[in-house]
Amino acid sequence: MQQELQQLWEDAEQELAQVAEPKALEIFRIKYLGKKGAVAGLFARMGGLSAEERPAFGQAVNDLRARLEEALALRKQAVAEQSESALPTGYDPSLPGYKPWFGRRHVLSSVLQEIVEIFRGMGFSVAEGPEVELDYFNFQALNFPDDHPSRDLQDTFYIEKDVLLRTHTSPVQIRYMEKHPPPVRIVVPGRVYRNEAIDASHAAEFHQVEGLYVDEGVTMGDLTVTLRHFAKEFFGSGTELRFRPHFFPFTEPSAEADMTCFACAGSGCRICGNTGWIEIMGAGMVHPNVFKSAGYDPEKVTGFAFGMGIERIAMLRHGIKDIRLFLENDLRFLSQF
Ligand code: DAH
Repeated sequence: MQQELQQLWEDAEQELAQVAEPKALEIFRIKYLGKKGAVAGLFARMGGLSAEERPAFGQAVNDLRARLEEALALRKQAVAEQSESALPTGYDPSLPGYKPWFGRRHVLSSVLQEIVEIFRGMGFSVAEGPEVELDYFNFQALNFPDDHPSRDLQDTFYIEKDVLLRTHTSPVQIRYMEKHPPPVRIVVPGRVYRNEAIDASHAAEFHQVEGLYVDEGVTMGDLTVTLRHFAKEFFGSGTELRFRPHFFPFTEPSAEADMTCFACAGSGCRICGNTGWIEIMGAGMVHPNVFKSAGYDPEKVTGFAFGMGIERIAMLRHGIKDIRLFLENDLRFLSQF
């Protein structure tokens, strides 16, 4: 019998050593010390013992119960200490977690992508050209006279006499036509540079999207339909365009396109300077001299071209008041888009 009690104690001790959490502690308590537990079972056997045997047995079972209670209490304390030390100090599991930080597209990239997608939908593909450009492609082949004011050092960053930072995306018209026979339907996004005094509406580097459509029988009507569709898609279906006569060396006739003011829908407000119209791009029919520079026959093909400033379009679209914000990388600005 002594042996039986000893065995029980050893089993219990071993079992308790495995216990590592409060739930298991309770299971252990019920198994050994509960109303129907092992110790209670031993006491129940007292009735079957002789009067001589009873006191010693009772004493032994009482001892066993006391040792089990003590061992359980010690283990309880150890488990509690362990789970406390598993928590990092200063950690409050009841606080809400941090949101993961997502990167996002720069507002100029998403505006650019949207513009390109609209023209892609009309069958245009994307072409690109170098930012360091020859005078020839930037000016000469585009029918700029030698004494045109934009060739002045004050307006153009020259690297060498005939090498410059392109002042617009139009040189890609020539580069593309030199390599591809008509028909041509391209948009050309890219960065351009001008020697500007920097302020809220002028930057020395900014972005443009150029467009070029060349085929037999392309008319000014194709130009207006295409650009009107773009304006409605980008700024909303109520948007109208008007074309004002203008001058560019590489188009004839040339025009500037104004859209109805999105803020007042044409009635006149501060944004449109009370005119109801906002200028958004230059456009025109490709000048015969441009076709000749690129090796196209102006007797056979006609075409239209256009160019718009992406910063300007993005500023109109999002109500951004200062062009310098695009380059400052201030997350308070960028994360709004
Ligand atoms: N290159 C002109 C500029 O930077 C914009 C432009 C106007 C492009 C008319 C064109 C065009 O293709 O037809 O101001």
